[in-house]
Amino acid sequence: MSEASAQTPPHEALEIRPLGPEHVAGALALSRQVGWPHRKEDWGLALAVSEGVVATEGDKVTGTACCSRFGAVSLLNMIIVDEAMRGRGLGRQLMQAVMALVAGGEMRLVATREGLPLYEKLGFVATHEIRQHQGIARSTEPELSIVAGTVADIGQLAEMDRQASGLERRGLLELIAAEGQVLLAENGFALLREFGRGHVVGPVVAKDAATARALITEAARRTAGGFLRIDLPEAAGLSEFVTALGLDHAGGGTAMALAPAPADTGDYKTYALVSQALG
Ligand SMILES: CC(C)(COP(=O)(O)OP(=O)(O)OC[C@H]1O[C@@H](n2cnc3c(N)ncnc32)[C@H](O)[C@@H]1OP(=O)(O)O)[C@@H](O)C(=O)NCCC(=O)NCCS
Repeated sequence: MSEASAQTPPHEALEIRPLGPEHVAGALALSRQVGWPHRKEDWGLALAVSEGVVATEGDKVTGTACCSRFGAVSLLNMIIVDEAMRGRGLGRQLMQAVMALVAGGEMRLVATREGLPLYEKLGFVATHEIRQHQGIARSTEPELSIVAGTVADIGQLAEMDRQASGLERRGLLELIAAEGQVLLAENGFALLREFGRGHVVGPVVAKDAATARALITEAARRTAGGFLRIDLPEAAGLSEFVTALGLDHAGGGTAMALAPAPADTGDYKTYALVSQALG
């Protein structure tokens, strides 16, 4: 434990308890405090597939940590401590509480620079970098044919996503498709939905980069003139391509894992995440 944590424990009136619908307004205030763009609906989507814990002091939410179980892999996300309470061990306490909920399996997260030292201390190891791009989308024609899909396609698309990511998240993809748009190519798919300041495209799952580029181009065409965000695994190599579509590099994070298990992979690859929170 650091000197600061040892000297200044979190306030004694602080409680850690399961996150419920009554905490959403307080959780939203915390994510706004750290400058994250989530709307109430974005927290709603995350919580529809997650459980979590909150730290509360009276009625005030002073910390959050969530986890989403997608088959054998759990994603930890929305880990936030009120800035007035940082450096006193509360982040570690919340992480330990949420890790206990999904103990025993593989855990993944995307770390901010602030969160990384804590996750390293808890045993997480960096696996790759994520590049966040966003901006006003420019319209161009995709080089491959892209057609519209529906929620009814998700069963098949979720299997492509599982091969690419190791995550079993058909329920999440169905929720996104029900509210957003499904883009289909011969060798892949993408989902487009409202998020934060505009839209986000992800996941983008494809057999090859040409298909991924066409899916992203179609998403930019559909949202042209509006704000579009995409979170790219660095190794996907599409940063330059999306910059040309108007989406500038705007930060990112470090993907980390604890107890990663060998995945049963197939022909598909993830070219963009659903979000940094949901993988
Ligand atoms: C990341 C965050 C949740 C940490 O919360 P916190 O309450 O300040 O964390 P803690 O006080 O429990 O510190 C956790 C550990 O990390 C260590 N740590 C924190 N910052 C560090 C740094 N810059 N370098 C080295 N170690 C650091 C602490 O010393 C402590 O170690 P210890 O438990 O062995 O003493 C908080 O900074 C935050 O909300 N940041 C903004 C939102 C964010 O980026 N969240 C992460 C999303 S992935």
